[in-house]
Amino acid sequence: MTELHPSPIDARVMGTRLPRVDGVEKVTGRAAYAADQPVPEPLVCWLVQSTTAKGRVRRVDARAALAHDGVVAVIDHTTAPRLAETENGELALLQDDRIGFRGQVVALVLAETAEAAREGARLVRVEEEAEPFEAELRDDNATYRPEKVNPAKETDTEEGDVDAALAAAEVVVEQTYRTAYEHNNPLEPHATVAWWGEEEGRETLTMYDASQGVHGVASVLAPMLGLEKDQVRVKAPYVGGGFGSKGEAHAQVMAAALAARTTGGRPVRLAVTRQQMFALTGYRTATISHFRLGATREGRLTAIEHRAQEQTSAVREFAEQTASPTRMMYAAPHRRTSHRLAVLDVAVPSWMRAPGEMPGMFAHEVAMDELAEACGLDPVELRRRNEPEIDPETGRPWDTRRLLECLDRGAARFGWADRPREPRATRDGEWWVGTGVAASTYPAMRMPGNLARVESFAGGRYAVSIGSVDIGTGARTVLTQIAADALDVEAEAIDLRIADTSLPMATVAGGSSGTSSWGSAIVAAAQQFRADHGSDPDPGLRSEATALRGDEVERYSFHSFGAVFAEARVHRYTGEIRVPRLLGVYHVGRVINPTTARSQFLGGLVMGLSAGLLEESVRDPRFGHVVTQDLATYHVATHADALGIEAEWLEDDTPVFTPMGSRGIGEIGIVGTAAAVANATYHATGVRVRDIPVTADRFLG
Ligand code: MOS
Repeated sequence: MTELHPSPIDARVMGTRLPRVDGVEKVTGRAAYAADQPVPEPLVCWLVQSTTAKGRVRRVDARAALAHDGVVAVIDHTTAPRLAETENGELALLQDDRIGFRGQVVALVLAETAEAAREGARLVRVEEEAEPFEAELRDDNATYRPEKVNPAKETDTEEGDVDAALAAAEVVVEQTYRTAYEHNNPLEPHATVAWWGEEEGRETLTMYDASQGVHGVASVLAPMLGLEKDQVRVKAPYVGGGFGSKGEAHAQVMAAALAARTTGGRPVRLAVTRQQMFALTGYRTATISHFRLGATREGRLTAIEHRAQEQTSAVREFAEQTASPTRMMYAAPHRRTSHRLAVLDVAVPSWMRAPGEMPGMFAHEVAMDELAEACGLDPVELRRRNEPEIDPETGRPWDTRRLLECLDRGAARFGWADRPREPRATRDGEWWVGTGVAASTYPAMRMPGNLARVESFAGGRYAVSIGSVDIGTGARTVLTQIAADALDVEAEAIDLRIADTSLPMATVAGGSSGTSSWGSAIVAAAQQFRADHGSDPDPGLRSEATALRGDEVERYSFHSFGAVFAEARVHRYTGEIRVPRLLGVYHVGRVINPTTARSQFLGGLVMGLSAGLLEESVRDPRFGHVVTQDLATYHVATHADALGIEAEWLEDDTPVFTPMGSRGIGEIGIVGTAAAVANATYHATGVRVRDIPVTADRFLG
């Protein structure tokens, strides 16, 4: 394996609208997702979940279940295979009698059919001993200070004298903003097919898993199961979305692995139901953001304070970086951020599209809207006055920061200049009409440790292999484009192989880092291949390489930026909210495929609209569970909600960040969107709502 600094590549295939290379498979239904995989004589596994939020399993009575036709086995904590490591409290299933949250897996049922498995699970009697628990996030119980917030960022930061600056400030905005619990609802629920076998005298575990990162799943599971990583093979040929919830292995992956260990080699198929996803496959923590902004009368920020409160789970720590965008977004000499958590007896929170940035920037961008009003300034102008020369957090120059261009371009396209300054100024029949703006940002991340392989075939064709996953974003297509340009061949000459741990190491499809991380490795491997074998190679030659980064990592601050404009209409009698126009303008480096990129931006905008107006998981603190556990009670924006949504981007091909000139695009679309919508509802009605989702009742009475 070689490591090299890949040189920038020219765009020939990059930048074109190459149709999705897996489009035909998908629209004809031939693409096989995890649960679709044909395996011989599978047993179906069904999860039995706890009904108390904390306590112990006293006894699992499986008699009625086992008497049911088709049920083969019931596995509980007394009979489950033992794990070699149990530190990961979310994945250490059935290792003892402890119950850490309501909905935890307390038994597994194996049956010949899905129907028998589900009925068997219903027939299992679990005697539980309940203990007192805490399942409610409040200002007064979120006091625990984690060591780091996701992904390894400082918990607290402090610069200057915030309190003195606020005391001296001519204008102060001091408000608290709240965001709801949200559950990731990708189209494809989580699913795993697993079987154990033997190869060369060693045990093997093979899985098809609905995952954002096959290598990550193998790395986490192997030591827990007492295996080497290469004894666990994970494949994820097609994945129907994840939004972060498939970024880490959740309970069902381990459940399938443990269940399959008991079947003498028969495969086990486990498909999580939509309802079970609300207990077991991750979610976004609710957040409380206490903001204090101090400014001059002219709207120049002197102090920014963001104290974030959220929750984690007693079962396993997950601390979200809610205040992290506040550290770099605007200029101000005095700044303070902090994160405090309530440690609750609830399921483990996890990643959901722009974890941290989405809720944190909702709070910050509504606070900025309030500051603009307090200073009598247009909100776009306020942001212009607080544009930092360098990254306030690191003191490094931006490699590029074109937020103001995004704002100006969006303002021109949206017709912002005609906007009345005063709120509640426009009525159209029974609807109050208003517009709002918010800025967006997301860090550009490129993960180390990605390896790619290039192999020559006859006829000028190449196999390009990397063990990354396309979760529906279009990664297969853009990686094909990158490989074609890196090898200077047509897209048709590339046979891209992904989504299997038998292929070279790749990091997770998360943090908007996939294209940058995997693409850079592919460019490195292609350049290594040309150096090793020239431009007219014999068939069967291969090279592997990993992409090193230069010292630009230490020299620059890499972030993407955007501006979101929204029009909201609020019904004067019912409070119903409609968003007829939503526009996002982004600067994300080179766009490798305008078709798939546009889908990412539109998807992010829809998801931000959905967060702003609809999505809310309601947890019952008396029983500890999420009561909104289906799509009838947990509302996700649909076609009828997504009206005039448009996205555009600034042209750019600066190759500093990656040899392709690109950055990530998966998450920035959701950031700032809910704030733009909330700000628009304020401008429409004069009623300031500081919590999302913004619901109709807030405008009544
Ligand atoms: Mo994304 S929430 O980083 O998978």
